[in-house]
Amino acid sequence: MLGITGGIAAYKCAPLVREFVKRGAEVKVVMTPLAKQFITPLTMATLSKNPILVDFFNPENGEWNSHVNLGMWADVYLIAPATANTIGKMANGVADNLLLTSYLSAKCPVFFAPAMDLDMYKHPAVQKNIATLISYGNHVIEPGTGFLASGLEGKGRMAEPADIFVILDSFFDTNRYLAGKRVMITAGPTYEKIDPVRFIGNYSSGKMGFALAEECADRGAEVTLIAGPTSLKTVNEKITRINVESAQQMYDAAVENSSVADVQILCAAVADYRPSVVADKKIKREKTGEMTLTLVPNPDIAAALGKIKRENQVNVGFALETNDEATNAKDKCSRKNFDFIVMNSLKDKGAGFQVDTNKITIFTVGGDIKEYPLKTKKEVAADIVDAVVEIAKKKGL
Ligand code: CTP
Repeated sequence: MLGITGGIAAYKCAPLVREFVKRGAEVKVVMTPLAKQFITPLTMATLSKNPILVDFFNPENGEWNSHVNLGMWADVYLIAPATANTIGKMANGVADNLLLTSYLSAKCPVFFAPAMDLDMYKHPAVQKNIATLISYGNHVIEPGTGFLASGLEGKGRMAEPADIFVILDSFFDTNRYLAGKRVMITAGPTYEKIDPVRFIGNYSSGKMGFALAEECADRGAEVTLIAGPTSLKTVNEKITRINVESAQQMYDAAVENSSVADVQILCAAVADYRPSVVADKKIKREKTGEMTLTLVPNPDIAAALGKIKRENQVNVGFALETNDEATNAKDKCSRKNFDFIVMNSLKDKGAGFQVDTNKITIFTVGGDIKEYPLKTKKEVAADIVDAVVEIAKKKGL
């Protein structure tokens, strides 16, 4: 779905649509009323081979142009050119034309290609709106620098159609790479029983693992999510959830599912030890003295899966560290036979347990290090899955 707004760069939509159609895409075009002044609906209808949508309904027969259906039909929604006006409305949930209602209903990835004069583009209001749209998970296609319709020179030219095409093409390549692949994810804490009413646990909320499960499922993967105790819900129907409580149960479920997994993401905060005996009755408080619990080691799920890892399997681990972060993370990466490890440090504000943000560094087994800025866990999940796809491609998975 292509959304065209009222800017001079709309003329570039003709070669853009032509390229998409030539490469086998089905294209539907939505225009704002003003966009019709810049490029004719007849041109766009001819090139896209579909009627152009501008109004909420056809005044001649009352037929409704359902923005909900459009939003569900599209695999991607590209808004190009995106004027300052439309960007502002998108960022603020304004819904006064079909292009905008379709944006609010769209379930697919959304790209927008700003096009405006350099001073408009630089204005803090526009920059703030663009940042807001990015924070909602939309993708900006940066404008180019050069000669502008106003006669001025600077940044604001809509990206060239050929470049937009390449950006979307490689997005689909990465984004659909996991389609049909099997991904197993462990997430959340484990609870190790002491007696019928008490356990040893940890602060993990499971949010990162659940965000990863949704991201993989959104990209078409068959996801098995082995979840420790958490109140989080899964949204995507492609996620098969196995609820477990203890490390041993998580281990059993992981080993059982491992042989069919193409990708294994070990995100759970697994208790390293459990009480050696579980009392069958509630332990009563002793009048005097201390109490001692004897703990025995739990199986290391990641290490066990690392030992039986196949050539064409990708294993990803996590390391939440408080000190000597890089050394500890790299050590775990090789010890557990991960393809890469995602490290976060409790020293970083906004990283770690119970928060909606995370700041990660990825260490690959080959020695590459990539640091990412603080992002939402949803955005971090997308970065991690991109890194998975990169390795999967290298392994010819
Ligand atoms: N992990 C696992 N099973 C365990 C312990 C850890 O699968 N019993 C996985 C985690 O999900 C994570 C990685 O191993 O991907 C590192 O976890 P961490 O607890 O940091 O590793 P440990 O080897 O337990 O190291 P530490 O001594 O820091 O506790």
